[in-house]
Amino acid sequence: MSVDIRFLGHAAFTLSTDTHCIAIDPFLTGNPLAEKAGLTKESIDPTHIALTHGHADHVGDTLELATRCGSQIIAAFEICEWAAEQGIEAVNPGNPGGRYDTDFGWVAFTQAFHSSSFEGRYMGMPCGLVLNVGGVTIYHAGDTGLFGDMALIGELYKPDIAILPIGDRFTMGPEHASRAAEMIKPGMAIPCHYGTWDLIDVDPARFNPSGIEVVRLDVGATHVVK
Ligand code: NI
Ligand code: MN
Repeated sequence: MSVDIRFLGHAAFTLSTDTHCIAIDPFLTGNPLAEKAGLTKESIDPTHIALTHGHADHVGDTLELATRCGSQIIAAFEICEWAAEQGIEAVNPGNPGGRYDTDFGWVAFTQAFHSSSFEGRYMGMPCGLVLNVGGVTIYHAGDTGLFGDMALIGELYKPDIAILPIGDRFTMGPEHASRAAEMIKPGMAIPCHYGTWDLIDVDPARFNPSGIEVVRLDVGATHVVK
């Protein structure tokens, strides 16, 4: 099993194997962290695009990428309806609690406590995503507050990696995210959704879950899981 986890700034990541590249929340254009690191929507060629919810800082460059790369979209039912209306043919809708097998492994949709809209349109339930890629299980919590059933998500899916928002105000802050990691019990936790703007500028050193390894990725950096 092996997967390359690359951080693109904010909540955007790619999960890459020799055969697949899954972009999660590919917000590059207008993402100050990505732009500072010289990353653009031309920097990635995803086979799949997985979206946690419909906010603009997560949908990002999805339509342009899916059009250029022919990427399959994995997202809430309403986001897939919207994408189909925009001419994207390969959509894989889901909703919290659901799981399905993919050509790279599998995807499960979890709950997230947040909102989800785009240009005034309801975009369905916000979600977290559990992706099994290259034999590695990765839980991207999306934008969410802390909730006790994160322990259940940990039990059900046993993620190797948990990617958690820590920027506060719109999501968990670092202390709540630390509690989340302690409940999920992944092999490793990666913080995201902080420092992009002043509103979510927190000290990431405050994300310090007990007994869980934290890997803080620089924007553009890759962590290889073998
Ligand atoms: Ni959001
Ligand atoms: Mn967000």
